[in-house]
Amino acid sequence: MNLSKKLKNRVSELQSYQDNRGRFHHLELNGEISSRMTFEDKETVVWCVNDYLGLMNNKESKQLASEVTEKYGSAYPHATRVAFGETKHHSEFEEELADFVNKDAAYLLNLGYAGICSIIDALTDRHDTIIYDQAVHACSIDGIRLHNGRKFSFRHNSVAHLETQIKRALKRHNPETGSILVIIDGVYSMHGEQAPLKEIVALKKKYDFCILLDDSHGFGVLGHSGAGAAQEQDVEDEVDIYVATFTKAIGSLGAFVAADKTTIDYLRYNTRSQIFSRTIPLSQLLPAQNNLRLLRKEPGRRIKLWNNTVRFQSGLRKLGINIGEPESPITPIQIIGSTDEGFEVLMDLRNNGVFSYLVFYPVVPKGTCLIRMVATYNHTAEDIDHTLDVFKKLTKKYPERLLQNYGVEKVVNSDKQTNIQDEDLLMRSTIQGGK
Ligand SMILES: Cc1ncc(COP(=O)(O)O)c(C=O)c1O
Repeated sequence: MNLSKKLKNRVSELQSYQDNRGRFHHLELNGEISSRMTFEDKETVVWCVNDYLGLMNNKESKQLASEVTEKYGSAYPHATRVAFGETKHHSEFEEELADFVNKDAAYLLNLGYAGICSIIDALTDRHDTIIYDQAVHACSIDGIRLHNGRKFSFRHNSVAHLETQIKRALKRHNPETGSILVIIDGVYSMHGEQAPLKEIVALKKKYDFCILLDDSHGFGVLGHSGAGAAQEQDVEDEVDIYVATFTKAIGSLGAFVAADKTTIDYLRYNTRSQIFSRTIPLSQLLPAQNNLRLLRKEPGRRIKLWNNTVRFQSGLRKLGINIGEPESPITPIQIIGSTDEGFEVLMDLRNNGVFSYLVFYPVVPKGTCLIRMVATYNHTAEDIDHTLDVFKKLTKKYPERLLQNYGVEKVVNSDKQTNIQDEDLLMRSTIQGGK
């Protein structure tokens, strides 16, 4: 069959809204990144940028980017790291990252998605078994798809089901030749809940496995020094492999992996997405490095972020809006209703000067949708109060969509979820747009 003809009939849920490009998706927000930007020529309070600590638009970091671009061009160094893409800044930043998350060593990844996907591929061979939470980010899911050994999923945040899956895996597993790798996120990016790391670590003491933690949304945000979910839950040493992207709290591009020296040395020579693709350019690396230094020097940023988070989330709860149980600045407004009904609420928010986006299948399970809102350091008391006033109005207009939000329990408390087949999940997770 002609491929193009075939694709014409293979329309995903997301693509079925393609006539609404620019309104529902592919949105163009203008202006400097802050809590107020411009959409369709009108100023709006922005709730969808993962600029947790307000560092994306940092003056000093922008200056560093423009100086290095002026000197060497925007994409220097022009090679893969292993060829001639090395600079002293790359190694220096790796040392700082390792020190920050209390690991022996770290390795930079040019992009979060490709890098995380690829390290899962690099770390495992057909003798190894992967066990993963059903809600891990699409980049891990795609890394798991590359794995040609055994794989088991466990119900989201269910430690009991994880243990069942570990026991199943152990029955078929040869400890002489294979390892077990458990993959989880520190903070789940749609509903904002943390992984129960303490309980997972307790299992690790009973069974022999390694933990790979994608802490992209915990890095810089959680823990007494901002070192993430493992620090917050006091299990830093038990997380074997720690990964996080620079696209959230430190507002740049790229990512890193941190672990013991042997693992990092191995990854440096065996991660295909880094060996066959160019390294992170200095125009991105220097701002990321500077932002990490600012994050460490200015803990007040994290304090303000959390004050804003509490003000916003408790305000929504007081209005009766069910936001589930986020343990991070990620605040999901769960809509009871169809995607179209969700869009209607979203458009009303927009018409009242509040901006975010709707998340629907395949990013969240079929039949559910949510407006994903993220509190940041940049939000002011006025931004938050204005947004809460708009929600108050909308709860009167759409009480059944906003107030009786029983769907949250089904999604977050997934011990109650019925069995989902791994393949369904792998398909569901192939697109995680807009984050
Ligand atoms: C949990 C998680 N991991 C990985 C990624 C991928 O990071 P990047 O944007 O650097 O590709 C994201 C980004 O959306 C994420 O939310």
